[in-house]
Amino acid sequence: MSLTPSELHGIKLEVNRLNRSYKGVPVLRDINFSIKPGEIFVLMGPSGSGKSVLLRHLVGLERPDSGDIRIDDQSIQNPKIRDRYRLTMVFQSSALLNSLTVAQNVGLYLKEHRIKPPEEIDAIVRQGLELVGLRNIEDRFPSELSGGMKKRVAIARALVMEPHMILYDEPTSELDPLMATLVSDEIIKLNRRTGVTTIVVTHERELAFRLAHRIGIIRGGELLCTGNLEEIYNDSTPFVKQFLIAGRNPQNSPTDITLQEHD
Ligand SMILES: Nc1ncnc2c1ncn2[C@@H]1O[C@H](COP(=O)(O)OP(=O)(O)OP(=O)(O)O)[C@@H](O)[C@H]1O
Ligand SMILES: [Mg+2]
Repeated sequence: MSLTPSELHGIKLEVNRLNRSYKGVPVLRDINFSIKPGEIFVLMGPSGSGKSVLLRHLVGLERPDSGDIRIDDQSIQNPKIRDRYRLTMVFQSSALLNSLTVAQNVGLYLKEHRIKPPEEIDAIVRQGLELVGLRNIEDRFPSELSGGMKKRVAIARALVMEPHMILYDEPTSELDPLMATLVSDEIIKLNRRTGVTTIVVTHERELAFRLAHRIGIIRGGELLCTGNLEEIYNDSTPFVKQFLIAGRNPQNSPTDITLQEHD
């Protein structure tokens, strides 16, 4: 694929004291963390803990009640900053446009923002789809795809945008184990090739440990801890301990699994 690493860099992300309530019910509570350029940060936590809401704030789709999100030291409240950086999200629901074909969905952003010459878009779309294991489905509509195929189309759509930061919300749910491995390999390859800052939300512990440079665990809108594997295993918060044990594959002990080395 024609990604040009020299033109790309991952952004630094800082989240400062982020709060958000819906109808008076707090959903994000004083969230603080930061991610280095090019890092893969994995966010884990139970259903309803605020993972998707947090991601929507990080790409500027929703505004917090208080607190700030900064990209390379500049607030994303400033619309110029949002325009300068390409921040993209692979939604939990895939969020494809049903009236458009697969090719139109994947190429839409490139076409509308005139990022690539129109004559190159077809080839880029095809390459993006091949990267996630899909061929000859360009002319199909989303209603003609399985859940897993939709997910992969949504990932291809994000990949071709050559983003500065990419957020994946449960990227391997609905995928069979083989395809889940292929997609997670692709997440790592894209991160290494382009240095794109990457956030992955997942329930799947094995996937989290395979992908992450660092992990954060959230519960009830509160980020309980962040750190590398050793740091989160040494965290003394009872819930963090329970959460890590509950999702454990008995065949692996924590020491069998290593997080990615940072270059
Ligand atoms: N638009 C909204 N209006 C009101 N409440 C919302 C809205 N979006 C999310 N919530 C609430 O915020 C909380 C966190 O939701 P969120 O979707 O972030 O959970 P999650 O951690 O992504 O869960 P899951 O793992 O099931 O996807 C939930 O209690 C949810 O009901
Ligand atoms: Mg969610």
